[in-house]
Amino acid sequence: MKILVIGSGGREHALTWKLRQSPQVEKLYCAPGNDGMRRQAERVDIGTGDIERLADFVAGEGIDLTVVGPEQPLVSGIADLFESRGLRVFGPSREAARLEGSKAFAKEVMLENGIPTAACEVFSDMDEARRYVAQDRPCVVKADGLAAGKGVILCSGRAEAEAALDAVMGRKVFGEAGERVVVEELLTGEEASFMALMDGDDFLPLASAQDHKRIFDGDEGPNTGGMGAYSPAPVVDAAVHDAVVEQVLKPLASGLKRRGLVYRGVLYAGLMITEDGPKVLEFNCRFGDPECQPIMMRLESDLPSLLMATADGRLGEAAAEWSDQAAVCVVLASRGYPGQYQTGMEISGLDALDSWRDGYAFHAGTKREGDRWLTGGGRVLGVTALGDTIEGATGQAYDGVSRISWEGMHYRRDIARRAIDRGAP
Ligand code: AMP
Ligand code: GLY
Repeated sequence: MKILVIGSGGREHALTWKLRQSPQVEKLYCAPGNDGMRRQAERVDIGTGDIERLADFVAGEGIDLTVVGPEQPLVSGIADLFESRGLRVFGPSREAARLEGSKAFAKEVMLENGIPTAACEVFSDMDEARRYVAQDRPCVVKADGLAAGKGVILCSGRAEAEAALDAVMGRKVFGEAGERVVVEELLTGEEASFMALMDGDDFLPLASAQDHKRIFDGDEGPNTGGMGAYSPAPVVDAAVHDAVVEQVLKPLASGLKRRGLVYRGVLYAGLMITEDGPKVLEFNCRFGDPECQPIMMRLESDLPSLLMATADGRLGEAAAEWSDQAAVCVVLASRGYPGQYQTGMEISGLDALDSWRDGYAFHAGTKREGDRWLTGGGRVLGVTALGDTIEGATGQAYDGVSRISWEGMHYRRDIARRAIDRGAP
């Protein structure tokens, strides 16, 4: 079987790494991929936005399955284009990907199907939005569009909410995504990431995970794409798992079907586990990153079989086996991320990790130059390890981290700390 993975981050490297382990895979490509992914796949020099050329390449090479990593090509309709050309693709259609592409649409679908979520209002008029936040309650202001997970501002009351509206709608700090805003109730609890494969009829929950969104230890500083993750997330116990299946996945699957939307791919629900049970913060139409990294490390089943079953609408026959071990991923980032950062710094210790037995360093933003590794992005590496417990896996991951360095390397020292402090197994 020939497979193409679209994307170039840690998520795509983890998918590629797992796909490579399958005896079914005879040829693996990544577009555009990154230099770390060369170990598993052949890089193809086509950008993720160039969906026509991607389709031509897939048709020309006779590729059996294309796995779309990031949201942007999905929101642009890559799945529709591939299907119209008879090419098998893992990822939802443009319409279905609006669950991520438009927060307002996601809310509409949730309300329509009774899916628990924060109460909210949508505004395209700034004065109306200002009148609404004058109620002076804790709230969240969200730009209504793709803003790389960064278009969300938590506000304790009126003054902060007004400042947020001014930034998002007035000064457009998140660009056009600020034309419309969603203002919603501030939920409290612990967050978890819950992903499921969906094929339009059936769904298959994946192992739970927890992300660490803020840049600094103790959940301080601005939101990032994610600074580390672990799986399983102890906060997703059996009761929460069942509640997500019954209250989120089932109504969502049937609601999408009623709208005539066929969702084939992975659905990511960002959850807040509140005192009243799980509530959906957001949907994404792709694997979470970094969550994908520990999850792929724990997956024991054959990944191509699961992705093919999803793309072909055969998930009803599929099952996923998970390692009993825990996995932890620590993201190594460039100083300054998620703001401005420098690239081109030489990374030391990376090749020596080849002999590391307990984990793997997934590449997110690296460049190979001669025999040197250089930084090439905000999130640079996802150092991911297995262990018998979350604490054990965390120790292994930080052991891997301790072998790598570059000038300005930044990472959180408290990944999985909360789970360990709770006495998680
Ligand atoms: P989103 O992109 O909508 O998931 O928001 C990014 C992050 O903002 C989430 O992971 C939460 O940490 C936080 N957040 C979003 N919505 C809420 C909410 N209604 N209540 C509390 N925190 C929220
Ligand atoms: N780690 C959060 C996300 O992928 O959206």
